[in-house]
Amino acid sequence: MPEKEVFKLSNLLKSYEGKRALSLSSLKIKKGERVALIGPSGAGKTTLLNLMANTIKADRGEILIDGIPMTEYGFGKQLHKKMGIIRQQFDLVGQLAVIHNVLAGRLGEWGFFKSLLSLFIPQDEKVAVKALKRVGLEDRVYERTSKLSGGEQQRVALARLLVQHPEVILADEPVASLDPARAEDILQVLVKLAREEEQTLIASLHSVEYAKKYFSRIISLRAGEIYFDLPSEKVSPEDLNNLYSLKEMK
Ligand SMILES: Nc1ncnc2c1ncn2[C@@H]1O[C@H](COP(=O)(O)OP(=O)(O)OP(=O)(O)O)[C@@H](O)[C@H]1O
Ligand SMILES: [Mg+2]
Repeated sequence: MPEKEVFKLSNLLKSYEGKRALSLSSLKIKKGERVALIGPSGAGKTTLLNLMANTIKADRGEILIDGIPMTEYGFGKQLHKKMGIIRQQFDLVGQLAVIHNVLAGRLGEWGFFKSLLSLFIPQDEKVAVKALKRVGLEDRVYERTSKLSGGEQQRVALARLLVQHPEVILADEPVASLDPARAEDILQVLVKLAREEEQTLIASLHSVEYAKKYFSRIISLRAGEIYFDLPSEKVSPEDLNNLYSLKEMK
């Protein structure tokens, strides 16, 4: 039996002000894959992730999620439950306690107001504390989030992801703002959690080293197109040199 495809993208085009940001004829991602998106600045990584997350619209083309066109999901809760998004800036609310940010992962089930008012019941509290334990922050549960360091805040975002428990994690440069040791640490946690939960993970990264170390498949983008799409171990130094070379692409 063929493995299940989570994403099937075809004939996708996204332009900004008439300039092509991303164009791809076909891309399939299977359930449980761990994919790194790499490529020079401006190559289209964020654009691709945003299209997959349905936060921007393509000019043309189709995105199927579990075989169903994205347009049929709309912007509602269904898609929120399926996909978790993690960005460089984490999207946390600094003034709130850590636990409230973690429980915002339940927004889809909860409704906005309950999350904002943060009226959690003990049961919710247990779920959040468990998630914070898994990312090593069990002693910071009630602290104001803005008091945490960048790396710790990134862990809060991971805990929120755990609570949300999506089938797919889309991560846009999840470790870009962290020092190398912390970046690797967070990436390790992210990959470990995704593996344990059998989640599909797609992450854009500037570090080729981490892409090769933690991801099974590497998709590189250059000038808005897929440049190569290979199992990590097949990516050669020459592929990488060409990818990042400053030569004009024809
Ligand atoms: N909101 C926007 N308005 C206009 N142009 C945009 C917008 N977002 C992206 N672009 C353009 O689309 C192209 C792809 O951008 P994108 O952000 O996807 O690149 P990236 O690979 O994520 O780069 P980086 O590694 O710097 O994050 C770039 O040329 C960029 O200038
Ligand atoms: Mg980007």
